[in-house]
Amino acid sequence: MNILCAYNANIDSIYHIDGSELSQMVGELEVENPVFADEFNKKIISPPGSISSKPDFLAGLITCMRDGSGAEWMIKDSSVFEWIKKTFIDGSFMRMGGNMGIMSNVLSELGASRVVPNVASLSKLQLSFFSGKAVYHPFEGKLYKSSELETILPEHDTNNKPELIHFVFDFRKGDKVSLSGKDFTVPRENRFIATYDPLNFELHMDAEFRKYSEAHIADMDGAIISGYHMLQENSETGSDYKSKLDASLMQLKSWKNIRKDLHIHVEFGHFSSDDIALYAFSSLSKIVDRIGMNEDELAMLAGLNGIDPNPILEMDSVAIADAAISLCNNSGLCRMIVHTREFVVSVSCMKNDDPEIIIEAMKFGAGCAAAFACSGKLTDRNKLLEIASKIPESESGKKESERLAQHIEDKLNCSTVCGIHDSYQVTVVPTRICDEPVSTVGLGDTISAAIFLRELELNS
Ligand code: GLC
Repeated sequence: MNILCAYNANIDSIYHIDGSELSQMVGELEVENPVFADEFNKKIISPPGSISSKPDFLAGLITCMRDGSGAEWMIKDSSVFEWIKKTFIDGSFMRMGGNMGIMSNVLSELGASRVVPNVASLSKLQLSFFSGKAVYHPFEGKLYKSSELETILPEHDTNNKPELIHFVFDFRKGDKVSLSGKDFTVPRENRFIATYDPLNFELHMDAEFRKYSEAHIADMDGAIISGYHMLQENSETGSDYKSKLDASLMQLKSWKNIRKDLHIHVEFGHFSSDDIALYAFSSLSKIVDRIGMNEDELAMLAGLNGIDPNPILEMDSVAIADAAISLCNNSGLCRMIVHTREFVVSVSCMKNDDPEIIIEAMKFGAGCAAAFACSGKLTDRNKLLEIASKIPESESGKKESERLAQHIEDKLNCSTVCGIHDSYQVTVVPTRICDEPVSTVGLGDTISAAIFLRELELNS
């Protein structure tokens, strides 16, 4: 399979944050700065959603740990980014980041023949994180593997183009945080991402990628697109998010004009702005074949569309399937895939598609993501599936699949749960749960990319 991937790749600097370290840090900042405690307490009650100061950053991290939820907040002030870098870079490890970057590596490692990504900041360091199997970069009219390009690329001028490093704070279930008398235990493992990324904030389109995609679109089987969630209301260069998004929509449309059956998957992401999320969802729904997202992202969109987000956040499979169908109905989108920690649900307007293909692809995706979670590495599919076979299926995912089965109007006979509900084909499979994940970041991207590739293969 030949697959184009755009737009966001970056470097993730992953830090395992520990409750006692965090409690100590907050204590020290309280002593250092008399107004810190006040500001921090206000921000915990009313989280700002982006980072312009140390209290903002700590409020974001701590509310995520308190609720067991995941979030990505944009850093608006470069001096806070420098402080985070100075404080955490030494204890962290780096790997590929960005939904698109992660998804392109998954496709390559799992056996796609050619994966061509759009890379916003093409540095030697960024290149070193791309899979060497099937990722090819267009550069000066030719295609190069990452290792080849690393040798001919001039030294990166970080003054001109920064290394795009996102700080990912992974936290563990059961960890204890103590904040001047307000103590809590982390209810679930998850991650908080603090992102300073001037290029991906702009949905940067690489000129080499654009040329390559225009010239070779007829040879492509699919495209995986993401990065819209990084757009900002007021970008540094003053250009507005609509013009950036519209430029991308034009690019996708131009591909579809030449290659009508090019299958396009969009991975949604955690938006910092309601307006941008709504605009992105409604405009993409008219062009792309499917959108993937997790339950946090679905809950946000659902809330903005007058649907109660709470049962979605509680991972109620019936609420999730109903919200996905309702969002598809309102927007004209045909297919949505919602991946949660416990199960994956697909709703599709293609009622006559073979549900067993979707189920097989979803089981494959769940297996690959679980193996990646446990080992922290991507390898070829047979090795991943062998690791996955030893990881147990989610008990809650199995129960939720059964609950959804009771709710589906017209159940079909298939290997897990499938049927027609509200005129949509609904399928659900439980995930596999790795108790001690190396990191929880990128699991949604892994599941979506693996499902996409397997479906392309099974439908070809
Ligand atoms: C977002 C973040 C990135 C992370 C990815 C994982 O794209 O910006 O840092 O790797 O999500 O899904």
